[in-house]
Amino acid sequence: MQEFKLDPRLLRTLLTAKEFGSRIHFTDTIDSTNNKAKKLANEGAAHGTLVIAKNQVKGKGRFDREWLSPEGGLWFSVILRPPAVDPQPLTVIFGAAISMIIESQISVPCRFHWTNDLYINEKKVGGILMESRYSGENLDYIVAGVGINLNFPAHELGYEFPIPPTTILDERGEPTAPTALLAGILNRLEKDYNQFLENGPTDIIKKYKNRCITLGRRVKIINSGQIREADGYALDIADDGGLLVELFSGAQGVLYNAERLILMEKY
Ligand code: BTN
Repeated sequence: MQEFKLDPRLLRTLLTAKEFGSRIHFTDTIDSTNNKAKKLANEGAAHGTLVIAKNQVKGKGRFDREWLSPEGGLWFSVILRPPAVDPQPLTVIFGAAISMIIESQISVPCRFHWTNDLYINEKKVGGILMESRYSGENLDYIVAGVGINLNFPAHELGYEFPIPPTTILDERGEPTAPTALLAGILNRLEKDYNQFLENGPTDIIKKYKNRCITLGRRVKIINSGQIREADGYALDIADDGGLLVELFSGAQGVLYNAERLILMEKY
């Protein structure tokens, strides 16, 4: 019979990755897998250490937004200890890689929306939260947190501004085996992470650009900083992971962060 529970023992057997998931911390309920991973990293946990939880009671997204994480979702964080490197492109690389694995393993049209969102059919199905610790200029570690709305209905999340979220259960109409999906994701992420370290971001970002639904779209950029709202077109992803946009004013610039980047109608 098909099993829809996360099984760390099965996960170990399915992992071809050498470091990602080489140590696994698996718990039922946790505040946030990112918080736990940061605590472990502060205590010296190794590169690739994986933290997974069945549900999070204080899951968080970018800009400290609440991330609802009921049982049935895939909530995990990986500790990364890169050498001196600009980690900025990693969010794009991980987002694109995860969207590819979701699409190829379970046949749903998953894409990533710059900078850190996973989308299916124009609705958000997951997200990535990278948190880093520096000592002065030196990068000590990154915690890469990934949340995927997997085996629960979207109505459990309520309505999220500005677009209602979706889940893979709702999109497929049937549950998905989480352990095999997680193994596929970790195996891919380790390969891409190593390629990024060896060759830099150019080739890998080029390879993954066609997975980005943001490109070629009209976007609304919303920030609480000086430019509160701007409309423009998303043109390209730069090597460093930034988004090249042309504003309606005609100005071009590279965006590195936006509180919200809303996809408008296609042009
Ligand atoms: C976002 O879209 O803003 C990012 C959401 C990231 C959620 C994941 S779930 C696992 C990890 N632990 C957290 O508290 N957040 C990330």
